[in-house]
Amino acid sequence: MINQILSSLAIEANNSGTYLGRWSNEGSAGHLNLVSPINSAALANVLISTASEIELTVEQSHEQFLKWKLLPAPRRGEIIRQVGNLFREKKSDLAKLITVEMGKPLSESEGEVQELIDICDFAVGLSRMLYGLSMHSERPNHRMYEQWHPLGVIGVITAFNFPVAVWAWNAMIAAVCGNTVIWKASEKTPLAAVACLKIIEPIFAKAGFPGVFSLVTGGATVGEKLCKDSRVPLISATGSTAMGRKVGMLAAERFARSLLELGGNNAIIVLEDADLELAARGIAFGAAGTTGQRCTTTRRLLVHRSVYDKLVSRLKVIYSGIQIGDPIDRSNLIGPLIDQPAVDKFLDAIKRSLAEGGSIISGGNLTPGKPSALFVEPTIILASKTHSVPKEETFAPILYVIPVDTLEEAIEINNSVVHGLSSAIFSNNLRATELFLSASGSDCGIANVNIGTSGAEIGGAFGGEKETGGGREAGSDSWKAYMRRQTSTINYGLDLPLAQGVVFKV
Ligand code: UN1
Repeated sequence: MINQILSSLAIEANNSGTYLGRWSNEGSAGHLNLVSPINSAALANVLISTASEIELTVEQSHEQFLKWKLLPAPRRGEIIRQVGNLFREKKSDLAKLITVEMGKPLSESEGEVQELIDICDFAVGLSRMLYGLSMHSERPNHRMYEQWHPLGVIGVITAFNFPVAVWAWNAMIAAVCGNTVIWKASEKTPLAAVACLKIIEPIFAKAGFPGVFSLVTGGATVGEKLCKDSRVPLISATGSTAMGRKVGMLAAERFARSLLELGGNNAIIVLEDADLELAARGIAFGAAGTTGQRCTTTRRLLVHRSVYDKLVSRLKVIYSGIQIGDPIDRSNLIGPLIDQPAVDKFLDAIKRSLAEGGSIISGGNLTPGKPSALFVEPTIILASKTHSVPKEETFAPILYVIPVDTLEEAIEINNSVVHGLSSAIFSNNLRATELFLSASGSDCGIANVNIGTSGAEIGGAFGGEKETGGGREAGSDSWKAYMRRQTSTINYGLDLPLAQGVVFKV
């Protein structure tokens, strides 16, 4: 199957089964030996970029930047339009590759490629809307305005759970802004990254800008090298808080920018007047979807005590009907976790939660008899706000249910974790939902009403507060992170008046 997918994506293997590209042609740093989490089948060996290859990539990317930035933004947008169109054609094959490499259900992989296509469309429009403000000067015959210029080579570090979409959020926006991009994909999912660059290579070659997007492969040392390179003015990184802390510090050390989108411990609040059927469906997708491996996954359910029984029994019914298995088969809604350490963390979190007084409502086990040992049951645990395990982010399908008595209590628990990515409330009470959205409400970057915590659209700015890192990616005015602002004051008069009425007679 993998060979069929790769050949329809025009990715060729050499004799040793190693995938080569212009981003990686030496290979002395070794290989990433990829196996599918679905059935442990060997997929490919992807070369790890050597230090000299990374050096060359940054150098070439910078050279390209000097040319690319001169192309008018709408013409850059025209090239990104072709990228989006090509990904439309490749959507099905690329989605299959994501599923085989990462293990998420096919429909979710297709949704991920759709995010990539959507952000291309957004970037095309944006290429004509990189607006700066103009101001009224306090001085006569003066004009003030600001304009936005590209930064340079942007480093983009992405995680395994969204192997292509998060790169695209960054890369497409960065590119129409006039930057070039070096992508350090997750060492767990480099094949989808190789595929993306292979797919779009001809577009950029034909346009005469072959190095606008490039790729380096490998683990932390590869990322670290990018973070330390003075030719890279912005590092955008998605992943764990521990990784983001390192990236942020390395960038800050040399006064580079970082744009961090890190962990989340997202809660849904369900009040007594909520539409419980709507809530139950939102919770199930949020908590069990993508096998709990989204940064926006619902990890805590803060439910009003008066509707606890009704909601939890509905959730139990929904959970018992969710099929777990090969994610290529569309009837399965839950695929495997990414690897054995992820399974170990799932089991360990459950064990520790039970030890501090939690009790299993649903799931809690591995699911034997599946094509690999990485399939687990989506799990619901009754916990209390005094417990510590629900405050951790475990990248697995575990939902902690915490009964609450008031909205204020729910908001307090919502905000009591170190992360601040996504949050949601289910209620038809306008006062309650508005309080949740107010400055006294959720402290997260995303706060939803009557939808779950995950599955955001690309049109909004995506990211969160506190240990989620503070960055914003994708839509709205997130593009400003990829540009530098220049404020200009222009004197078209014959005098030289000074601002603030200062007199300096010479
Ligand atoms: C992530 O998990 O890093 O909102 C990104 C969502 C997706 C993106 C998640 N659109 O769930």
